Amino acid sequence: MSVDLIDELEAGELSVEFEGQEPWEVLEWAIERFGGGLALSTAFQEGDVALIDMAYRIDPAVRVFSIDTGRLPQETHDLVEQLRDRYEGLRLELLSPDAAQVQRLVDRHGPNLFYRSVEHRLLCCNVRKVQPLTRVLAGLDAWVTGLRRDQWASRSDIRKVEIDHDHGAIVKLNPLAEWSEEDVWDYLRRYDVPTHALYAQGYTSIGCLPCTRPVAAGEPVRAGRWWWETGAPKECGMHCAIETGGFEHELHAIVGEDRHE
Ligand code: ADX
Ligand code: SF4
Repeated sequence: MSVDLIDELEAGELSVEFEGQEPWEVLEWAIERFGGGLALSTAFQEGDVALIDMAYRIDPAVRVFSIDTGRLPQETHDLVEQLRDRYEGLRLELLSPDAAQVQRLVDRHGPNLFYRSVEHRLLCCNVRKVQPLTRVLAGLDAWVTGLRRDQWASRSDIRKVEIDHDHGAIVKLNPLAEWSEEDVWDYLRRYDVPTHALYAQGYTSIGCLPCTRPVAAGEPVRAGRWWWETGAPKECGMHCAIETGGFEHELHAIVGEDRHE
């Protein structure tokens, strides 16, 4: 770690201070404070591209990473190309899951295991997303997410500055916490930021292709994620550790001793 990390007390104070402030004010502070130890995480959803635009205006050398699970829609990669054209020199890294782990996952459970049970789905999310995330966060002091309070009940109490105890107590910043979906789209229109093509086809939250579908009018924005599941958390484990007792043993067989649940 290259800078003094902050503790729970300071994170709480900063969160109170930043409440009511604009997302770019949080980013300005974070880029100044953490420099090269900070990176934006992006899934190329509406809030993510707004944050890329804001951060690039502050510092074009800001680091951005995305975990390419191997199951993303073509439209996500199209947007990557658009962003590379739009933001010259953007440091956008696409990170793959460990090939040997994916091989074992597919050998043991097949390519579409996620439809079989919540445990199988969490296993896939862990191998394809959580493990690579944990590897990249191990080299950072702070990470930025596009999480918002209005997305889902599990996110209603997020703060703008948190300590991420699931990832080595580094700092986790949620600059959009207070914004609504409409606030984000206003920003995107104002600055003419490239956006994901699937929004025009009724999608309101976008992840991997086989696990995401469009929603009907009036449905919650995350209703199309893992839509076949009932009573399961609409989370993949990147933002909260999930333990069910049902997939950890298998995860151990696939990932080995260095696993991160
Ligand atoms: S998820 O838990 O359901 O996958 P969601 O898609 O809502 O999360 O995204 C919330 C935030 O998590 C994004 O704004 C982004 O910061 C981060 N994130 C999600 N997926 C990825 C990914 N594949 N790579 C990097 N960051 C991601
Ligand atoms: Fe696997 Fe679906 Fe999770 Fe993507 S969202 S990592 S395909 S279970």
